[in-house]
Amino acid sequence: MDSMVIEGGIPLKGGVSISGSKNASLPIIVSSIMFDNVDNEIDNVPDLEDIKTIKKLLISLGAEIKESDRADKVIINTSHINNCDAPYDLVKTMRASILVLGPLLAKYKRARVSLPGGCAIGARPIDFHLNAFRLLGADVEVDHGYVEVSADKLKGAMITFPIPSVTGTENVIMAATLAEGTTVIKNAAMEPEIDDLILALNNGGADIRRTELAVIVIKGVKKLNKLKHGVLPDRIEAGTFMVASAITKGDIILNDIEVRHLKAIISKLSEAGAKIIINSSSSLRIKGSKVIKSVDISTAPYPNFPTDMQAQMMALMTLSSGLCVIAENVFENRFMHVAELMRLKADIKVRNNFAIVKGVKKLSGAEVMATDLRASASLVLAGLASSDGCTTVSRIYHLDRGYEKMEKKLAGLGAMVSRVKEDEPAPIVEPIFNNKIHERDAQVE
Ligand code: UD1
Repeated sequence: MDSMVIEGGIPLKGGVSISGSKNASLPIIVSSIMFDNVDNEIDNVPDLEDIKTIKKLLISLGAEIKESDRADKVIINTSHINNCDAPYDLVKTMRASILVLGPLLAKYKRARVSLPGGCAIGARPIDFHLNAFRLLGADVEVDHGYVEVSADKLKGAMITFPIPSVTGTENVIMAATLAEGTTVIKNAAMEPEIDDLILALNNGGADIRRTELAVIVIKGVKKLNKLKHGVLPDRIEAGTFMVASAITKGDIILNDIEVRHLKAIISKLSEAGAKIIINSSSSLRIKGSKVIKSVDISTAPYPNFPTDMQAQMMALMTLSSGLCVIAENVFENRFMHVAELMRLKADIKVRNNFAIVKGVKKLSGAEVMATDLRASASLVLAGLASSDGCTTVSRIYHLDRGYEKMEKKLAGLGAMVSRVKEDEPAPIVEPIFNNKIHERDAQVE
């Protein structure tokens, strides 16, 4: 398992290009199941472990992934799908694998997918997805750790989510796309990744409209033609690099972003003292301030502050000038990074879903362990800001799930980071504590 070694204390400088969105790529890639064309083309797909997992899953169903001239382009032929079962081995490594349920049900009227099981950031059931499939006319059975959905035909229905669910909304959109009649989703999630999926489907012949902010109307169509789409930029990768600039008191320019999707992040980072200059709709500059102000953060579905940026903002707040409260309102157990940040001498107390962060003057490098994707990012950010000793973040395969070439991008901004391969001897670092890190592992997102 690779580690990342970080020599902190260097203000980041320069420009960085943000990759395509992981959370938009995943549903768009699986939506290819519903298209009849042999060459479905998706551009701006990031090179990530999660993308490799979803490609493996599609191949296991009988899809063919073709060679393309560009690394960020995926060409998929799904015309020979001959299997509707997604096995435990693939689903357990990535919860988003449940996204195949909707398109398989829509196109082949049957799907059998392993239940994703527990994960590090909470129980995360899929009851909303399954109840919605039932309303569309499907039989749903859960047995031996698998969920099996089947239907003679799907019929449009009125679906109201108890709370907005991102992949729930995406699964229902896909299931309803080829159904008979009209489906209305109320209290639908508003994340931009959902609108990117809608755009991709509509360009291929679907009839889906967001009629109000939280209402999506899907008029079923008989078939979809060709999937041809460029994925939107990753707002969480962008937010993570913005924090990297703020926490190192750097000055960086982010390119290939969608500024309008970053409003909540821009607002919080500005409140914390960072100077943000919008260059255009796809580029901004962020300069860290000498003093990081404490700001309270409360996560909630889009357009509010994203839970996927909570850990990174917490890293920033560990070096703030005062005290702040971070409320995690989306997932009940998303504070796994706290114990690791404290190994770097952060001062954080957790009470239920609140973390009280008291800023410290400096963080000290230490050996820490990544426990999930965004927790890993927060440890890397804290390591970049640790002015006293180097930080080794182990188990960075979590990072590889969601950040494309992170160490290369950081090195391009002047950071002293290197990846240590599993079979290479670990660099000598001064451990701050001797307590053994618990063997923990996590499946998230
Ligand atoms: C997606 C994102 C993830 C992000 C999360 C919240 C992908 C691949 N992943 O995850 O990065 O952190 O949105 O922005 O896009 N819930 C239920 N029952 C359900 C479904 C959800 O109770 O059937 C609850 C969840 O436990 C959670 C809340 O609803 O408390 C929102 O979760 P949801 O939006 O579904 O998250 P994901 O789609 O899994």
